[in-house]
Amino acid sequence: MRSLYCKERYRMRIAVITGASSGMGRDFVRQLSAIEKYDEIWAIARRRERLEELKKELGDFIRPVCLDLSEKESIEEYERMLIAEKPDVAVLVNASGFGYFKQFDKAPLDGYYKMIALNDAAMVGLTYVTLPFMKENAKIYNICSVAAFQPTPYINIYSATKAFALNFTRALNVELRPRGIKALAVCPFWTRTEFFDTAVSDDTITYYQCYTESRDVVTKAIKDMKKKGRDVSICGRTAQFNAFLTKILPHKFVMRVWCGQQKKPY
Ligand SMILES: NC(=O)c1ccc[n+]([C@@H]2O[C@H](COP(=O)([O-])OP(=O)(O)OC[C@H]3O[C@@H](n4cnc5c(N)ncnc54)[C@H](OP(=O)(O)O)[C@@H]3O)[C@@H](O)[C@H]2O)c1
Repeated sequence: MRSLYCKERYRMRIAVITGASSGMGRDFVRQLSAIEKYDEIWAIARRRERLEELKKELGDFIRPVCLDLSEKESIEEYERMLIAEKPDVAVLVNASGFGYFKQFDKAPLDGYYKMIALNDAAMVGLTYVTLPFMKENAKIYNICSVAAFQPTPYINIYSATKAFALNFTRALNVELRPRGIKALAVCPFWTRTEFFDTAVSDDTITYYQCYTESRDVVTKAIKDMKKKGRDVSICGRTAQFNAFLTKILPHKFVMRVWCGQQKKPY
């Protein structure tokens, strides 16, 4: 009877990390698991073999969860997992996402719908259904981008999805303060990941370099999460300077400079 009572009371403590099959999501899995002990890390992405590799690398506490998060049904499936297992979700990382470097009307409309569904709707949905399973001191990392700070021609829809993600996260952080839960908007600059395999299909955008390493963005985000009052994490001086300029300069000027860099008319 006593053991049954204890079993009922015990809530598995987990981290949920999307985009776990590569780039920053995968680095979040590696770094968070090195810092803290979780009963399980639910590693979410579509490529099962990558998630299985991560499990082999880190241990059986990695639970591969294969979901296409651009589908509403996947969010419902994830919610059913939460309801069935009733875990204590200590950390949620929304790191899945993709973009196109394309003139607006040259990329497929279906692709835009998927991008909005993944970069924004899934972030909202996953956060919404996870919150009932979070306690005081829980943490939410939402991967946005420095592209969130200004309109960005030729990365238009991606940049707009990230502006949504940034505003959503900062406002959410305020709303969650009374519950002692923190939400952090992580805004990377160009970062060396597989992101570019999807984003780049031609030479629409030519002026960019991978300035940052994925693991450094993640290390900085984990540090910034601990800082009182910090709701945005920007890794590296170039990225921070870039963000500062977009705050003080008129956005028309910022767009003109960007178009000049990309050899596009303004
Ligand atoms: N790299 C950069 O320069 C940069 C800069 C600023 C912001 N970001 C943002 O950082 C986040 C992480 O990207 P990354 O740079 O690490 O790129 P990445 O290496 O391409 O990782 C993207 C992740 O998202 C997952 N994903 C893509 N479509 C999905 C779907 N439909 N359902 C579920 N998972 C999906 C991918 O896994 P599967 O393919 O296995 O599903 C992968 O794990 C993204 O939100 C990106 O927009 C990147």
